[in-house]
Amino acid sequence: MAKIIALNAPAKINLTLDVKYKRPDGYHELETIMHQIDLCDRIILEQDRKITISSNSQQIPIDSNNLAYKAAAELLENYGIKEGVKIFIEKNIPVGAGLAGGSTDAAAVLSGLNRLYDLGAEINDLMPLAANLGSDVPFCLQGGTALATGRGELLQSVHPAHALTVVLVKPSFAVSTAEVYGALNLTLLKDHPDTRELLAAWDRKSLENMALNMINVLESVTINRFPEIGRIKMRLLELGASAVLMSGSGPSVFGLFNSMGKAESARDQMKYIYQDVFLVSSYMGSDR
Ligand code: C5P
Repeated sequence: MAKIIALNAPAKINLTLDVKYKRPDGYHELETIMHQIDLCDRIILEQDRKITISSNSQQIPIDSNNLAYKAAAELLENYGIKEGVKIFIEKNIPVGAGLAGGSTDAAAVLSGLNRLYDLGAEINDLMPLAANLGSDVPFCLQGGTALATGRGELLQSVHPAHALTVVLVKPSFAVSTAEVYGALNLTLLKDHPDTRELLAAWDRKSLENMALNMINVLESVTINRFPEIGRIKMRLLELGASAVLMSGSGPSVFGLFNSMGKAESARDQMKYIYQDVFLVSSYMGSDR
């Protein structure tokens, strides 16, 4: 009987995102704190002769353009496995949202295939493959909370100080990460996050102090183009969020709440306006 494995693929939010400079290779040098939340895609892998993808979502490619397909192809080739894999992606994470939905599926395929075919790879063996697939894939593979530098692939774990209560809102449009970075004008940036201060506030479990340093410099591009993002931030603050920020290159916006009651009522209010609203917590699971 063909072996089957099911894995969670959690989304991420960025608690800060700073760009230091544009690199000669075209990427931007980052300093960002990434945090997994328990909004998860579900990935089911089954041994098969070739690589195929299916999904409950019509919004993702189900061919070799899917990052999960590329992850499988790269891993199997690297380990000289002549077999394939049947990949089912239960999509729950909004697409094109700044939540690393595609990257986390790819990361789950790397670690799932490692188990499915008993490859015996350690996470460090898989990291170069992950980085090759995309800047967010290494973090998605490692999980938890991390300070990411380089183009996002150099990771330092941040210890899990506390579980966050997060209301996440994805407006109806999607944005292209490459376009957002392409439109970033570093000379116009006035505010940068103080990442050390943010981490100190995280250690002290102080949402109020975290809020002071929760800055995402990519908002300088997206809020100009899509004022809706600024309006969601304002609304979440009015509804009692202690801190609000756009995640990654957007357009998802999240608010951190110091009480479940406030978070529930904010979620309910936002649901009147937006279809994709989620009340989630930090992701604490581990099936890797
Ligand atoms: O690495 P990934 O393929 O996810 O990146 C998508 C695009 O985002 C890149 O082609 C690049 O334009 C931009 N990017 C960047 N600097 C980073 C990460 C991504 O400019 N650190």
